[in-house]
Amino acid sequence: MTEVCHSLPNKVELPDGWAICYNAREFFCKPRKKFMRITHLSLTNFRNYGRLELTLPAGATLLHGNNAQGKTNLLEAIYYLATTRSPHINQDQQLIHWDALQTHDPVIVGRLVARVATRQGERQLEVRLINEQKGQQYSFRREALVNRRKVRLMDLLGQVRAVLFLPQDVHLITGSPSQRRRYLNITLCQIDPIYCRQLSTYNKLLEQRNALLRQMAEGRGGHDVLSIFTERLVTSGSELFARRGQFFSNIARETQHIHYEQLTDRRESIRLRYLPNLHDSPTNSSETLQLADWLEDHLQQPERIKERFWQAMQESKAKDLARGSTTIGPHRDDWAFWVNGRELGLFGSRGQQRSAVLALKLAEINWMTSQTGEAPILLLDEVVAELDEQRRALLLNYVQSAEQAVLTATDKAMFSDPFLQQATMLYVENGRISANPTA
Ligand SMILES: Nc1ncnc2c1ncn2[C@@H]1O[C@H](COP(=O)(O)OP(=O)(O)OP(=O)(O)O)[C@@H](O)[C@H]1O
Ligand SMILES: [Mg+2]
Repeated sequence: MTEVCHSLPNKVELPDGWAICYNAREFFCKPRKKFMRITHLSLTNFRNYGRLELTLPAGATLLHGNNAQGKTNLLEAIYYLATTRSPHINQDQQLIHWDALQTHDPVIVGRLVARVATRQGERQLEVRLINEQKGQQYSFRREALVNRRKVRLMDLLGQVRAVLFLPQDVHLITGSPSQRRRYLNITLCQIDPIYCRQLSTYNKLLEQRNALLRQMAEGRGGHDVLSIFTERLVTSGSELFARRGQFFSNIARETQHIHYEQLTDRRESIRLRYLPNLHDSPTNSSETLQLADWLEDHLQQPERIKERFWQAMQESKAKDLARGSTTIGPHRDDWAFWVNGRELGLFGSRGQQRSAVLALKLAEINWMTSQTGEAPILLLDEVVAELDEQRRALLLNYVQSAEQAVLTATDKAMFSDPFLQQATMLYVENGRISANPTA
């Protein structure tokens, strides 16, 4: 966690947000620890919330209540404002309240608004989910606003940052590569706007190149145009490889440290590896790992990455033409954990997989904090229930030192009394939130 004075033991806080750090021989002046938290959340027609106005305090808030009342939906709303993505892979249109969609009004809007306090002042973030009737057709679009001014959705990223813990997080290890890429993109986009722009450019170019490959299969379109698209795709794709590689080299170290020191009492060492798809279908895992090593060694040489990607694209051209799609590139990347030389997704126990993913999420908190100087908001959906005592204590430590954390539980009893005493308790019932159960 960021501590303003690091190695210097003494600190004097000045009223204008600065601190003087000193010891017997030296001193320096630094901004006090930054902060970022949501002070107020308004929801309109979002999931089962018809209308919600909620003041959120700093520190830990525990949302409790029976099943299917709206606890997860509230975390989803905060996560959506931070990332412009739902943690569930579904259509964003489904986020609008069903009842509102039944009204047959020509325009139906779901709104999420957050007031965010930072040391620089307050800002208001808003996302509108708009379902609009045009003739017989309904169309869906989204709008983003910062301080009531329209911005691109991408510009919302980084305005407030969140790390989400879900019971199904273990699917990051056992699930499909596309789930892992989705996690990677959402995480990186919260921190790195250049990455996010490159990703959007890359995806557009990929679509165009694939359309061209299909046209060429029908005898239309020429090799010269394909060459132009390939060149552009290689330029933006290499940037993605490099930024993903850099991210993994940072987060892998932190994940490994947390896992070894704090989760397994120095018994088990894991290795998190980025598996870039920079080559035409590596045939075995040792070839895949060689490629991963090569990228790690060349992270500071973007030209070499570009050259290698370009070369690989030339080699896979015939295959791409036959298939009518681009067969290599960051859109087919993956990442995985290894324990004692074996891949965790294939050989690990459920408990080992859970520990690895917990270490990854905790590392993500530390990484975001060190990159931005601001601790992200922690969102924990029912995750405490499935952890053993040691892991639960560790996770709650992170919660207690966070600027803001929102947790959900059907059963408060699984939290210790000291935790419950310092947390704000909110009761959720049928899309309404109150301090106490009404009955
Ligand atoms: N678009 C929507 N409009 C209205 N209601 C919705 C919409 N999408 C989901 N719901 C409903 O919202 C309800 C609350 O869901 P949520 O997942 O937040 O419950 P929860 O309190 O977290 O429950 P659990 O304890 O079971 O996890 C569910 O009954 C779900 O069917
Ligand atoms: Mg839930």
